[in-house]
Amino acid sequence: MENEGRRRFLGVCVAGATAAAAVAAGYPVFRYLAPRSGQGGGAKLVIPAGELKEGDAKFFEFAGSSAVLIKTKSGELVALSAVCTHLGCIVQWVKEKQQFLCPCHGGQFSTDGTVLGGPPPRPLAKIPLTVTEGNITIG
Ligand code: FES
Repeated sequence: MENEGRRRFLGVCVAGATAAAAVAAGYPVFRYLAPRSGQGGGAKLVIPAGELKEGDAKFFEFAGSSAVLIKTKSGELVALSAVCTHLGCIVQWVKEKQQFLCPCHGGQFSTDGTVLGGPPPRPLAKIPLTVTEGNITIG
């Protein structure tokens, strides 16, 4: 009788510790993969044009979400949402291939956001930009 109570108490302790460990291990992964929100997003953002070389991408927060500015190897500037259109993970820039890769399910996007492969149903959303006097204004 007493042993059964101890066993039940021990079971509750083990289950609680397991749940706490799962949350502690999973939260950093969730924060890395989930779209960010409410962190310094704004309606307009100015980036000095000199910050980006041909073939590079710069990630930033825009309107409460992750976005990316690309300068293609031909010098064209493109601003896109960095949120994958499949399930919302943040895409990564693969400079060697000049394309985006989604780390969650392998979605691939070109420099203009077009889907090249994987499960994403739509292209990455484009964000308007203008270039004046050496500054790139996003939004
Ligand atoms: S969330 Fe990007 S491919 Fe699934």
